[in-house]
Formats: sequence, C-alpha cells, structure tokens
Amino acid sequence: MELLEWDAKTYDSLPLPHTRWGAGVIERLGLRGTERIVDLGCGTGRDTQLLLDLVPNGHVVAVDGSQQMLTQLRARLGEQTERVEIVRADLTSPFPPAVRGEAIMSVATFHWVPDHPRLFQRVANALPAGGRFEAEFGGAGNIAAFQAALKRAGGPSSSPWDFATAAETAQALTDAGFVDVEVRTVTDPAVLERGEQLEAFIATVLLGAVLRDLPPAQGRALVQATAAELEEPVIDYVRVQLSATRA
Ligand SMILES: C[S@@+](CC[C@H](N)C(=O)[O-])C[C@H]1O[C@@H](n2cnc3c(N)ncnc32)[C@H](O)[C@@H]1O
Repeated sequence: MELLEWDAKTYDSLPLPHTRWGAGVIERLGLRGTERIVDLGCGTGRDTQLLLDLVPNGHVVAVDGSQQMLTQLRARLGEQTERVEIVRADLTSPFPPAVRGEAIMSVATFHWVPDHPRLFQRVANALPAGGRFEAEFGGAGNIAAFQAALKRAGGPSSSPWDFATAAETAQALTDAGFVDVEVRTVTDPAVLERGEQLEAFIATVLLGAVLRDLPPAQGRALVQATAAELEEPVIDYVRVQLSATRA
C-alpha cells in the first residue's frame, strides 16, 4: 500500500508526547559526540535537530517515508544540513545503503511497520558489532480505549497498526542478533484539551490512515464523533521501550 502522507505542519503545532518519548530515547543512546546516528521515522526532524547538537563531530541520517514530513524537516533544519543525510525510504523494504550508522534510534514509528522480526533484521544489518539500538513505539494495549471509541463512533474495526508485546519484541531482537536486550512496557496517557486541540490530534496523529479513504466531510464527522465518545480527552498510550546492542 502507498505510504501515508502526514499533515506535517499541524503535527508540529500539537502538544506531542512524542517530544518526551524522543528525549528519553536519545538520552538512553549515551552519545559521545562523534557517531553517525540513524533516526528511523524521523518525521519533521525534532529529534534529528536535537541529535545534531549532541554529535558536534558526527552525522545524522534522517529517514522517513512521508514527503510532507521531510519537507517540514528541511524547513526546520534550514542551513543546518551539512551533517545530515535525508533519506526518503519505506521501512518495510531493505534499507538503502545510506541507512547505516553506529547507533540507530526510532520514536513512535515501528507500530506502523508490520513484521518486526524482519524489521529488526534490517536494523541489525545496518549496525556494526557493538552498535546501539534504542527505540520506542506503541505496544500491546496501546490506544485500546481510543479504538473502542472510534468503533462506537462508526469507524472501522480493522487497525493499521502492529502493537507488539514486550515479550514478542525481546524475542524478535534476540533472533535478529541483538544482545543486552531490555524491553519495557510503559503506560503513558496523554491529556488534551477538548475541542479543536483534541480533534486536530485525533485527525493528524491517530487517524490519518483512516481519513485518507474518506471524503473530507465524512472524515471530519468521524473525528468529532470519536472525540465525543471519549469519556475524557485522554489518549491511552501504552509504549514499548527497547534497548539493545548488535552482537
Ligand atoms: C508518529 S510519526 C513519528 C515521527 C517522529 N519520530 C516523532 O517522534 O515525531 C511516525 C512516522 O513514521 C513514518 N513512517 C511510518 N511508516 C513508515 C514506513 N513504512 N516507512 C517509512 N516511514 C514510515 C511516518 O511517515 C511518520 O513520519
């Protein structure tokens, strides 16, 4: 299926818990300042920019499948592109040669990518022995209450996401050749303001893959109905956090 395009400007205007999730992933990388780091599913480049400051003598490879996200990333970075390689690629396919680094990270992306055993194999192939891999993504139980509200509002019951358990993730990492594997599941609800903010968040961050198949008016009605079905303006995020080292 064609990769999803994102409303990148609206995405960047929202109070994203992703900012916190990204900061945690970057902290766990324990960077020295000279590495070449790959950010898989870099989106609009918030973490790419942070990484550039943390590796003054290194490089960042920013990878995403969405043209709009990468356009916003270029606008964010402005002149700061000397140490950045921007790669448009589909993470469900073998990685292009530029997607190689001493460390690989990813935030809020892998639940969009089916078949994690294969994905982690591709990540392993892009790292040298001893290379660090730090990531976080939606795990089993992620946005279950939101999905129930969507269904009550008349939305589809099928889901575009792959929400893995911590045990499945740990096994897939070990099978792909990682050691020192640590996987945690963290419940991390995001509280929003009812009205415009909640509806923009639902439309932009959560339901892009559903709305692209609907006429705009029908999509807006579904977003409003889903928001109304939520008891509280809260998105019930459950995250998998992984840390691993390439053997
Ligand atoms: C929720 S956004 C997260 C972006 C960024 N990491 C952040 O924390 O703000 C998910 C990103 O994954 C990208 N993505 C999803 N599936 C992908 C795929 N198969 N190949 C490449 N990128 C993909 C999307 O284009 C989007 O930019």
